[in-house]
Amino acid sequence: MSENTYYITTPIYYVNDMPHIGHIYTTVMADAFARYHRMQGRTVRFLTGTDEHGQKIQKSAAAQGLQPIELADKVVERYRHLWEVLNISHDDFIRTSEDRHKAGVTEIIKRIMASGDLYKGDYEGWYCAGAEAFVPDSQVVDGKDTESGYPVERLSESSWFFKLSAYQAPLLEWYKANPDCIQPKSRYNEVLRFVEGGLRDLSVSRTSVSWGVPFPDDADHVVYVWLDALTNYISALGFGSDDASAFDQFWPAQIHMVGKDILRFHCVYWPAFLMSAGLPLPKTVFGHGWWMRDDAKMSKSLGNVVRPDYLIERFGPDALRYFLAREMAFGLDASFSDVAFLERFNADLANALGNTASRAVSMTERFLAGKIPKAHTPGPIAQAASEAVAGHLRHMDKMEPHRALEATWRLLSAINGRIQEQQPWALAKQGDEGRAALEAVLYESLEGLRIASLLIEPFMPSIAERLRTQVGATGIPVNLGDATHWGLLPEGGSIGKVEALFPRVDVKKMMKELAQRDEPGAHAKESSKSEEPEAEDDGLISIDDFAKVRLVVGIVKEAERVPKSKKLVKLMVDLAETELRQIVAGIGAKYAPEDLVGRRIVVVANLKPAKLMGVESNGMLLAASLDGDPDLLSPDGEVPPGTGVR
Ligand code: MSP
Repeated sequence: MSENTYYITTPIYYVNDMPHIGHIYTTVMADAFARYHRMQGRTVRFLTGTDEHGQKIQKSAAAQGLQPIELADKVVERYRHLWEVLNISHDDFIRTSEDRHKAGVTEIIKRIMASGDLYKGDYEGWYCAGAEAFVPDSQVVDGKDTESGYPVERLSESSWFFKLSAYQAPLLEWYKANPDCIQPKSRYNEVLRFVEGGLRDLSVSRTSVSWGVPFPDDADHVVYVWLDALTNYISALGFGSDDASAFDQFWPAQIHMVGKDILRFHCVYWPAFLMSAGLPLPKTVFGHGWWMRDDAKMSKSLGNVVRPDYLIERFGPDALRYFLAREMAFGLDASFSDVAFLERFNADLANALGNTASRAVSMTERFLAGKIPKAHTPGPIAQAASEAVAGHLRHMDKMEPHRALEATWRLLSAINGRIQEQQPWALAKQGDEGRAALEAVLYESLEGLRIASLLIEPFMPSIAERLRTQVGATGIPVNLGDATHWGLLPEGGSIGKVEALFPRVDVKKMMKELAQRDEPGAHAKESSKSEEPEAEDDGLISIDDFAKVRLVVGIVKEAERVPKSKKLVKLMVDLAETELRQIVAGIGAKYAPEDLVGRRIVVVANLKPAKLMGVESNGMLLAASLDGDPDLLSPDGEVPPGTGVR
């Protein structure tokens, strides 16, 4: 590996199920980084593929009456197709059922064997086929693996063991000498703590599974699927074959991008296997967060999995790519909701990007006959562009792609702001007098958009290209070096045809359309969560907004008038908390304090405290108000204090 090579990998995907947005996320992010580094002039190798062996696939295939390879062939096509429509720029796609991969697995095991790190024994314990993991007794509750949530089964079989325990100290040394080898920091600490807790030897073969790579020189066993799968990162480079030139050129990987659930396999097992085999270790493992659906875990059994097909078909691949990259702070969890998707679509894509571009381009068409004007002295957009480029580079290098996008959107907003301020339509009316200012604002806008197109390129490659065509930048290099310099749009060049990059959608209508596409039960977790759009067009709020208000039943225990006030009454209310709540309410003109004691009321319990005539109020009670005359709301029956109101 040289300084200028960049090898990036995604996990290889199980072929027991069709892809959902969680799978797509890792690949889209890896693609963005691969493109980013190519644009910096590096020699990039980007690998993805499928994990086809093991008990999980064997079982799924049997359940569908298929041979494992038949199931794999079917699902692999789905992945290949999806990567094509999503514009994923991988250089290689590895399937673990390929011979080149089996050769790599055989070779790594031979090397581990030669180091004396393999011995034969009996495995007696739990196995979780869902996660393809051997599970310690302490992690099994009610027949389930507490980590993955999948059911476990008892195994008792002959097995090859890897001396993982011998690698505790070398692994800890590696982590400490390479504080960036696991990112983000929280995951690094998590792995460190896990390894400090001690490592047990790992079973690395199975006899009760037949779908896998035969264990070298012991064909009754197949290789444990994680040892098999992890080796894809080097078998795809020709490790174990006659031609290892790609291995020599690209290994060790710059980065393995994975979800947080498979961190241990990549940060503990994989480096230990590599150490044992005498091979260099990857530079970084990045563990990204988990996509939820409307704040609930996505799972097939809940039926709330977000499939990408319709979103891509309806909004285009780049809209989905953008949303995934922008919505999730890289490394943390995020929740997918239709309304969040649609709102970002309208606000960020249709409006900030699409509208700004079509304003600049159509005004150039109208006021300057479609010709790129003369560049005058660079103004505020040039400044914003240079800040956006710097921000993009800084954040991408720090693995903060969501922030890199934010930096670009600041540039778009600067362009829009400048157009608004300069009013090209008014300048155009001034004839020669307004000409220089008109040219300046439109040149800057077009050039700013050209630079923005370079910054969105890693995330939205096809939209970036269309944007360049519109602003007349075809033929100008696309890179993150000299192409980001100001002033490359040539005076007199022709702009392209004006077209809406992202036509705005009607959020309410589209919510319905998307809901119809959902798998049955998509909103099962919170069936009341019918997600209305935010108060954008029609004053409606979403159920999420409503859910922020904590309404509970309370019982008034004490009540007295606030001195010198006709209306205010101070109440001490039982909300089933450790102390009574003090609430001041303007109901004294209608209710005598003594009549209030013992009454059940409904209280907004999470209101910020306020002072009314110097008396603190920690909540608000609900009352109907007819011409300012309050009518207290009470539950119908004898509901206990603290009960939630919905
Ligand atoms: N086959 C293993 C990986 C072997 S790599 C040597 C595997 N496959 S998987 O298909 O189950 O998952 C692949 C990737 O998708 C993982 O990185 C996982 O974290 C990611 N995701 C699956 N569901 C996800 C979400 N809901 N959210 C984000 N990513 C998630 O594990």
